[in-house]
Amino acid sequence: MRRKLLYGVVFCLAAVYILYYALPCDNGSKMFMVPKEPTKFIYDNKHRAIPYDENMDIIFIGGMPRSGTTLMRALLDAHPEVRCGEETRVVPRILGMRTQWEKSPTEKKRLANAGITGDVLDSAVRSFILEIIAKHGEAAPHLCNKDPFTLKSAIYLSQLFPYSRYILMIRDGRAVVHSIITRKVTISGFDLKSYRKCLQKWNQAVESMYGQCLRVGPYRCMPVYYEQLVLHPELWMRRILNFLELPWNQSVLHHEDYVGKPGGISLSKTEKSTDQVIKPVNVEALTKWVGSIPDDVVRDMASVAPMLRTLGYDPDANPPDYGKPDPQVSDNTLHLQKNKDLWQKREKDIFDKLDENKDKEAKNRYSSNSSVH
Ligand SMILES: *[C@@H]1O[C@H](CO)[C@@H](O)[C@H](O)[C@H]1NC(C)=O
Ligand SMILES: *[C@@H]1O[C@H](CO)[C@@H](O)[C@H](O)[C@H]1NC(C)=O
Repeated sequence: MRRKLLYGVVFCLAAVYILYYALPCDNGSKMFMVPKEPTKFIYDNKHRAIPYDENMDIIFIGGMPRSGTTLMRALLDAHPEVRCGEETRVVPRILGMRTQWEKSPTEKKRLANAGITGDVLDSAVRSFILEIIAKHGEAAPHLCNKDPFTLKSAIYLSQLFPYSRYILMIRDGRAVVHSIITRKVTISGFDLKSYRKCLQKWNQAVESMYGQCLRVGPYRCMPVYYEQLVLHPELWMRRILNFLELPWNQSVLHHEDYVGKPGGISLSKTEKSTDQVIKPVNVEALTKWVGSIPDDVVRDMASVAPMLRTLGYDPDANPPDYGKPDPQVSDNTLHLQKNKDLWQKREKDIFDKLDENKDKEAKNRYSSNSSVH
């Protein structure tokens, strides 16, 4: 009697399973499917539609400003399948706002009382970031974003975009701070009159970003040393494209040929590194900082910026031995030094042409987008 009942139950369960799950295996998901958003598209310069959504393998490049983030994105922009584009500025801001909403207990409670839960905010922030990244530049099969401070939110972003990857640019903090101070790069919280305070701030920011990168893990976040990238571009670009699972293309070794070209590198007049990334990879910027940091700060370097040692830079070497450049890089550097006038003229030509067509380009992208809907 017991046994019969048991068989009966098993049979019923099996029947239910077969009817509802196993039989309609091709169309099965339809029966229980949550309505999906219609696929969204962006259009490249040949009017080919490229679908985009939050499951794309978006590449986020970040690090302290003046650490080679612009060079990194220019090298990837030279790759035919990738588009990074200019800094968006609004992506790190929305991330900052999201943190603020979460941080203040009163605000969090008010939002929750209005039905604005963490999930609702996440979904809105995700859409905002995706739309900005997808539409502020040309379409490409692999989209990329470079806003230095996004890597402060690497863990959060890695949850919003489950297939995203991260490149954290790391550079000797002394060179970073020297560049920030001499180029007058305003960053909130940085006192540009004090090497000591700037180095402390660098230390704090890099510690946070490096920690997040490690927690996101080696399959999704790769730290790249600026010095090694400019000394050995081919070795490092091969490793980086490997990490991103992108095919090798020689174009990433000649990014200067793709400035301002369709499918190449789009630049902004207002970004501080634009004049540098139009040049081929060179080592002019590696040791400029030596001799300009006050003696007392040089003496206390190990304690002012302990991250130097953590990252493998000798805090007491002025400068440390970063290594020897590849022959091509030495040639580039020599060529730049010998042909200063030529490169100054090229810089001016490029700057004069910048911005002319950006409104038109954006309008084209927008109208081809709305015409399908
Ligand atoms: C799935 O269902 C659709 C209609 O809803 C039908 O056109 C299609 O042929 C079905 N596919 C299979 C493999 O049964
Ligand atoms: C490299 O990219 C160029 C366009 O930038 C393309 O024409 C070429 O076919 C690519 N080479 C390989 C090996 O994919």
